[in-house]
Amino acid sequence: MTDVLVLGSGGREHAVVHALNKSSKVGRVYCAPGNAGIAKEAECVNIGVMQFEDIAQFLLSHPNITLTVATPDNPLVDGIVDYLTERGHRTFGPQKAAALIEGSKLFAKRLMKENGIPTADYEFFDDYTLALEYIKKAAYPLVVKADGLAFGKGVIICSDYLQAQKALTSIMCDATFGKSNRSVVIEQFLVGREVTLLAFTDGKTVSLMPSAQDHKRAGDGDTGLNTGGMGAFSPSPYFTKELLEKTKEKIVYPTIKALNNCNRTFKGVLYFGLMICNGKPYVIEYNARFGDPETQAILPLLNSDLYDILNSVVDENLSEVKIEWRAGQAVSVVLASEGYPGAYATGSKIEIIDTPQVEIYHAGTKQVGDSIVTSGGRVLAVTAVDINMEKAREKVYGAIKNISFDGMFYRNDIGIK
Ligand code: AMP
Ligand code: GLY
Repeated sequence: MTDVLVLGSGGREHAVVHALNKSSKVGRVYCAPGNAGIAKEAECVNIGVMQFEDIAQFLLSHPNITLTVATPDNPLVDGIVDYLTERGHRTFGPQKAAALIEGSKLFAKRLMKENGIPTADYEFFDDYTLALEYIKKAAYPLVVKADGLAFGKGVIICSDYLQAQKALTSIMCDATFGKSNRSVVIEQFLVGREVTLLAFTDGKTVSLMPSAQDHKRAGDGDTGLNTGGMGAFSPSPYFTKELLEKTKEKIVYPTIKALNNCNRTFKGVLYFGLMICNGKPYVIEYNARFGDPETQAILPLLNSDLYDILNSVVDENLSEVKIEWRAGQAVSVVLASEGYPGAYATGSKIEIIDTPQVEIYHAGTKQVGDSIVTSGGRVLAVTAVDINMEKAREKVYGAIKNISFDGMFYRNDIGIK
């Protein structure tokens, strides 16, 4: 038996902790910093994901931990895997050089362009005046993206010049996403259906997980503001075998190869955010990690031992592990606090009556005395698995009726479209 440490505090991390707990090889799961729901399944440690020194110190004093799982974007892009690995701690996730595929949109776009990987046409600007000149003549809608990480808020879809100007001013002049994050990629707006594809890879072998679909907008029917994700289902019924084959050939394998060729071998979970346009897959974004909330829909379908898989990625022998997924449909619905993704209240008591047929992953929760209260915009993700979408939806929305907190809202249409 061995112990593991998971870094993070969201619904995604709760799903990872839950899956690791199923392994017969794992003794104790620790999570830094975790949340009130994770604390029921793991020992939460009060260390933030950017406190590299404290994490290393904690690992030194817990020699039984043989694997650290790094899931959030910020520490990955800042090199947590390099930092811990250099100090002798086995860590799952890409090194800083490879995580740049998420850390810089320009790097990702150039990699795609140079390797013929289908993506939206784009221009890069680090000069505000030139960017303004460009958007005067450009066709709309267009998409303005901050080059670096932006708490999931750096992508702005603009339907006219005024919106684009506002987006540019905010990123380039007001430095909304940081002084070192003032460059932009401006790209063509793609119309189609979005699909998320996650892959385990050790840089040599690629093992794809079932496809998924995220729901970014706050309201039913894809209305309202963009959020971190209001729900997901997996697999995506729209991602046919034919599309999968095209995506492997045109996108997945070329990306892994391109990263190897520029000495940025990717080990971890590589996230392909795809747009299917006229039957053809295009990359809208890469992430260097498990997606949130896709993971809350995907991992409940995993029949194999997650610990074995993560270990084999670190040891670069993923080809020796058989990864099996159960048939069926998973639907995960996020319960959020009124106001999210804008300002919202916290500290509302969460009541959960009997919900036997679902998994409840905590995202923004905190233990206060005997109660669990809300502490974030996205509070819980409720996941059900059944033989088809209709049955999974029935289970999930049935269970949600037994959950409540002040200001709770959620989308009613996850799994409908
Ligand atoms: P991201 O933060 O990169 O996940 O982008 C947020 C969302 O913006 C994506 O999930 C898409 O819905 C949308 N998006 C990003 N790039 C494009 C594009 N080129 N065309 C259309 N929609 C896009
Ligand atoms: N679901 C989108 C993300 O994880 O960034």
